[in-house]
Amino acid sequence: MNRILSGMQPTGNLHLGNYLGALRNWVKLQDLPTPKASADKSTKPTEALAKEGKAECYYCIVDLHAITVPQDPQKLRQSVRETAAAYIAAGIDPAKSTLFVQSAVPAHSELMWILSTYTPLGWLNRMTQYKDKSAKSRDLELLGLYAYPVLMAADILIYRATHVPVGEDQKQHLELTRDIAQAFNRATNSDFFPLPEPQILGEATRVMSLRDGTKKMSKSDESDYSRISLTDDADTIVKKFKKATTDSDVLPDNVKALEARAEADNLVTIYAALNDTTKAAVLKEYAGSGWGKFKPALADLAVAKLAPMTEKMRQLMADPASLDQILIRGAEHANALTQKHLREVKNLVGLWSF
Ligand code: TRP
Repeated sequence: MNRILSGMQPTGNLHLGNYLGALRNWVKLQDLPTPKASADKSTKPTEALAKEGKAECYYCIVDLHAITVPQDPQKLRQSVRETAAAYIAAGIDPAKSTLFVQSAVPAHSELMWILSTYTPLGWLNRMTQYKDKSAKSRDLELLGLYAYPVLMAADILIYRATHVPVGEDQKQHLELTRDIAQAFNRATNSDFFPLPEPQILGEATRVMSLRDGTKKMSKSDESDYSRISLTDDADTIVKKFKKATTDSDVLPDNVKALEARAEADNLVTIYAALNDTTKAAVLKEYAGSGWGKFKPALADLAVAKLAPMTEKMRQLMADPASLDQILIRGAEHANALTQKHLREVKNLVGLWSF
């Protein structure tokens, strides 16, 4: 059986990019039909997986990764709850998927140490995310930030995961994970770790800023108008789409014509993703329309899709004790599997466990 693992850093202020780029796809993977029901030939990654049938899903909130940059303890704990609420509100069902907080599952950290002894520095020196982050401040030249990708490898390998849904920006880390898995297998003369496949997902992998179609939608953008937050109410959503930067042309009748129009492309991408269709299908409906028509339609669609989620998130956040219960159960489940795998790893390496 396939096993899927993915994770996201805890953050307040989750936005449409987090939902369309990650969460929505995680939900699809959780709800894959059984193999016989999905015999069609399709090239989309989710459907490629569907052909192999149901997968066991593990979704974590990676707070150990979050502390590679300074965090306020109270805010960090609250962000974890908010992120968990967003997972559930987006459709991750704790009865079907294992939903947990990374720091509550100690085997991740323990495996990381072991894997670090199979990871040449040269491999880490190539990681662009470390270079970008540490270049911003000397204070971030930390061992933890440098070793971040090894912890990510441990997150994945401790489950012996076969598939990892991630965005384009995490591809390099996943390649490193495969290299580390291979190095471990070779050194221990085993095939203990499967080589995990990235699932770089569909049309809406990259949701861009509503102010600048060349920048990713981000929680740290200083303009609140650059993003749709998962907690925005209907009026705010309508206002933000109305103010979104666009050119003055009408919508074209083919996807190719969007290539040189970053903002137009982004809005059509968002519409297609929210409506679970393709950009071509959206253009078929709206070719020749101006923004005066398209933007309100997009806002209506976004409100219809996001309002139930926002409401669900609010309910979950209003009852933190129940939310914590879900995370405790998730951690128990994750601990059971990872402790078993950790014992096998230690055994292969010649370490002790009782
Ligand atoms: N590094 C990932 C990101 O920034 C988060 C992450 C940590 C992750 N561990 C993971 C993603 C394991 C997938 C699998 O988005």
